[in-house]
Amino acid sequence: MVRVGLTYRSMEPADLSAVTALEQATYATPWSEQVFRDELAQTDRIYLLAEDDGALAGYAGLMLVGDEAHVTTVAVDDAWRGKKVGTGLMIRLIDGAIHNGAAHLTLEVRASNVIAQDLYRRFGMAPVGVRKNYYQTEDALIMWAHDISGPEYGERISQIREGLSA
Ligand SMILES: CC(C)(COP(=O)(O)OP(=O)(O)OC[C@H]1O[C@@H](n2cnc3c(N)ncnc32)[C@H](O)[C@@H]1OP(=O)(O)O)[C@@H](O)C(=O)NCCC(=O)NCCS
Repeated sequence: MVRVGLTYRSMEPADLSAVTALEQATYATPWSEQVFRDELAQTDRIYLLAEDDGALAGYAGLMLVGDEAHVTTVAVDDAWRGKKVGTGLMIRLIDGAIHNGAAHLTLEVRASNVIAQDLYRRFGMAPVGVRKNYYQTEDALIMWAHDISGPEYGERISQIREGLSA
């Protein structure tokens, strides 16, 4: 069940101490606060967060490159996992990407991270290749979803959205 109080909004520099705390709790090689700060300063980026009464539940970001949207990060606080926060973030990221003219969506994900891969598959992303040792000791799967601004993909997103409000 989705918590009614959860809200989504753009990430701001003032959020970065909470964001980097979650980043450090989530990733073995976390981004520094400065990396997030630099990302937020770019115009071709979208960074969003989910919060519950001001407490950070998760965040996600993407980079726009021509008509491609590259998801750069998705992280959900342990206490919030499995409650559709990642799904809510992805829907809003994709909305933003389409709004900014993106036609295709891509990302890299650890070969062992089947939970995240399942999330991305729900969003129509399919593995198309491998980047060897992308994460130093581990390969990355490259996933793509094409024609995200088309009606078929729109129908997929509508169904995911309906599932969230069920
Ligand atoms: C991957 C991650 C972002 C998913 O966020 P989440 O809010 O827990 O995901 P959701 O609740 O929206 O789940 C969406 C789908 O993801 C998959 N999923 C989520 N949690 C899962 C679990 N514990 N086991 C299996 N699949 C799971 C399922 O396909 C799920 O769909 P379903 O609920 O209809 O079965 C979160 O687990 C996380 O932050 N992991 C650590 C960081 C990470 O791996 N980020 C991705 C890097 S590329």
